[in-house]
Amino acid sequence: MAMTVPPKTDAPTVTCTIDGVELTVPAGTTIYTAAKEAGIDIPVLCHDERFDPVGVCRMCAVDVGGRVLAAACVRPCEDGMEVTTASETVERQRATLTALLMADQPPVEEDPKETTTGDNLLLALARRYEVGHAEQLPQGRGRGIDDSNPVIHVNHDACILCDRCVRACDDLQGNDVIGRSGKGYASRIAFDLNDPMGESTCVTCGECVAACPTGALTNKPIRNVPIRPRSELKSVDSVCPYCRNPAEASFLSCPHCGTKLKQACRRCKAPLEPSWRLCPYCETATVQTPPAAERTRREPTTERPVR
Ligand code: SF4
Ligand code: FES
Repeated sequence: MAMTVPPKTDAPTVTCTIDGVELTVPAGTTIYTAAKEAGIDIPVLCHDERFDPVGVCRMCAVDVGGRVLAAACVRPCEDGMEVTTASETVERQRATLTALLMADQPPVEEDPKETTTGDNLLLALARRYEVGHAEQLPQGRGRGIDDSNPVIHVNHDACILCDRCVRACDDLQGNDVIGRSGKGYASRIAFDLNDPMGESTCVTCGECVAACPTGALTNKPIRNVPIRPRSELKSVDSVCPYCRNPAEASFLSCPHCGTKLKQACRRCKAPLEPSWRLCPYCETATVQTPPAAERTRREPTTERPVR
């Protein structure tokens, strides 16, 4: 079956075959992106299309006929390439990788992501490949819990070092707070110079929590309001208070009234209450309560505020 994904630019194209589907895509398109355009599902963990791919987890491994499997999220399509995304070898590798990653995870019933928003990607893969906690593997739990932030819980044992939070913090929000520290098993994410999160320069924007695929970074309930699954949240149209463009913002949800809140205007990039995110509808601070004097809506302006 031949299928053409129309190039978005005048750039040269390449033609390859993925699971028997012939695809023509712009040169440089990754196997993951081409497969997605063709409706072929390749599981990912470290990849999120909002960030540059880094290819660290290898969950997206596919067979390109080479000596080793290739990471679909970073490997570009090549002319004449024949890709198999779900052979027995590929699926066995993914199942083994999932079992290894599960070794240090907390019990499912205690997982703070699975028991609140219910969107733990690693646990979803564990169910798909029918692997459990790999009790036969030595478990090295002990990288620690960081409960120093009033609204974000950090469980380093549940971290799979996918660097999604690092890219969310650095590339999306531009806060540059999260990095890596340690070597070997002691490797873990670090805030500033390995400070407790609550004592670091973190502004508690929540982007890392939204990016994390496991229960390593999770929201704590505020004022005993339960954290609800995304499927139970409703979205509303609104405008950027800085550039006044409607529907030009990405949204977060108020856990109190369920309203989705702007996070940053896509057009002017204005950060919209990035550190405390006051819900403009129920007037409740969703992350940190600002001083009462600050709890007023800012006047629209076309200038980007200094952060
Ligand atoms: S804390 Fe979450 S997002 Fe960050 S590296 Fe660990 S698993 Fe990935
Ligand atoms: S999803 Fe491709 S290497 Fe992690």
